[in-house]
Amino acid sequence: MSNVFDFVIFGGAGDLALRKLIPAWYRAYREGAMPAGSRILPTTRSVEAAAGYMAKAQAKVEEFLGDEFELESWKAFANNIVPVAVDISTLDQRWDDFAELLNNSAATSRVFYLSTPPAVYGECCKHLDAKGLNTATSRVVLEKPIGYDGKSADAINEQVAEFFPEANIYRIDHYMGKETVQNLMALRFSNGLFENLWDAKSIDHVQISVSERVGLEGRVSFYDGAGAMRDMIQNHLLQLLCLVAMEAPHKLSANSIRAEKIKVLEALRPLLGADVGKNVVRGQYVSGEMGGEQVPGYQDELGDESTTETFVAVRAHIDNWRWSKVPFYLRTGKRLNERCAEIVIQYKDVSHSVYDEEATGKMLPNRLIIRVQPEESIQMTMMTNNLESVETKLEPVTLDLNFSEQYQDFKSDAYKRLMMDAAAGDASLYIHRDEVDNAWAWVDPIIEQWQMPDSAPEPYAAGSWGPETANKLLSDDNRIWFNAGQNSKRA
Ligand code: BG6
Repeated sequence: MSNVFDFVIFGGAGDLALRKLIPAWYRAYREGAMPAGSRILPTTRSVEAAAGYMAKAQAKVEEFLGDEFELESWKAFANNIVPVAVDISTLDQRWDDFAELLNNSAATSRVFYLSTPPAVYGECCKHLDAKGLNTATSRVVLEKPIGYDGKSADAINEQVAEFFPEANIYRIDHYMGKETVQNLMALRFSNGLFENLWDAKSIDHVQISVSERVGLEGRVSFYDGAGAMRDMIQNHLLQLLCLVAMEAPHKLSANSIRAEKIKVLEALRPLLGADVGKNVVRGQYVSGEMGGEQVPGYQDELGDESTTETFVAVRAHIDNWRWSKVPFYLRTGKRLNERCAEIVIQYKDVSHSVYDEEATGKMLPNRLIIRVQPEESIQMTMMTNNLESVETKLEPVTLDLNFSEQYQDFKSDAYKRLMMDAAAGDASLYIHRDEVDNAWAWVDPIIEQWQMPDSAPEPYAAGSWGPETANKLLSDDNRIWFNAGQNSKRA
């Protein structure tokens, strides 16, 4: 990246900015990926907060990066941070000073990262427009969640569209910046091997699981109004599904990639009425044991009664030629047994077995496991003959490409990648408005169905893998979930 940029972070003193965005820019700086003269401009509401910003930022970055933090390089990096006191809700003199600061800059591009509640996106863009700051080379980055449902998302997108053209609106989904997610595209589109092995003829089913050990993490009011469907499935899991299911874009441009993802979302079979009960499981954790300790249930943490779901499992279908009759099982939840994000592609059985499986052991279908976190790896399980046995004994072994071993110095950081892309004007990993609309169009009727009287999430113990009905969702199809650390590596 060589163009000099100004990167403004509205909500610069907030949790996301201090925990993710500033540390990510610090990493980029240390890697020499920040062009000289570029500036990071976090905004604060008050002049006092701007004055105390650098000390606070340093403390937070030290806390979050641990051993990776190094004082000398931080001091050098800190010269590029310019805290600015400007209040989004008041178009006063400070906005003039802010505009002057940006207009007297060597930067050739400008990014406004809105790390604020979506309710103020419109107002913020309006003020940027009033000060003439939304120039042709200015981009605006919107954090998720965009809206609460299709209608509210549309209203937010409409407000922003009044002041920025779609090409300059960058909707972020940090899962798109994760390295293994990038590698999923590389795996699919740069290896001829998979080109003919990526459809209903070869693949039995796909599982996409994002399990978390954390609970509410103090985000009480946000999370209870959202739940796992809006917080995770509507964005992160559907984005992963798109990358697995989409056709090859004709080139790696933002428009071509997004066009292919939109086709997948459009082909998602709607789940309406009674189909919701048959294909979707929602759960909420109750008290359970994790790491030898008893942890409270969701409603205890919340201090109130609630029917918000902390777990969702879905059987989805993509109605097109490539994926006809191949189920995509999606699953996510808080307070689950392991922290893991994994895509499992389960291939079909061989068409005819030449082995006497009673003697040789059961043949298992090949499985491609793309692990996004905690470690980043791609594994393929294959059947082989056990060399230690005199007789033929079939055994699954795993071909393991572990990225953290392969690239030991590499520090994976989804936000770094995505923010650098925004500064460089590359929107290919960002989300188009039509993707947001299509994702809500699929999610909304499911949530609507949950509003029916007597509909409630099923309880599951903290530390488990979710409600029993989620297992039944697969066992009814003669399949099982592959749970990280249990049965995902081997059969
Ligand atoms: C966020 C959700 O988008 O993603 C959180 O709002 C969730 O609830 C987080 O914990 C998970 O991200 P990661 O990168 O830790 O898997």
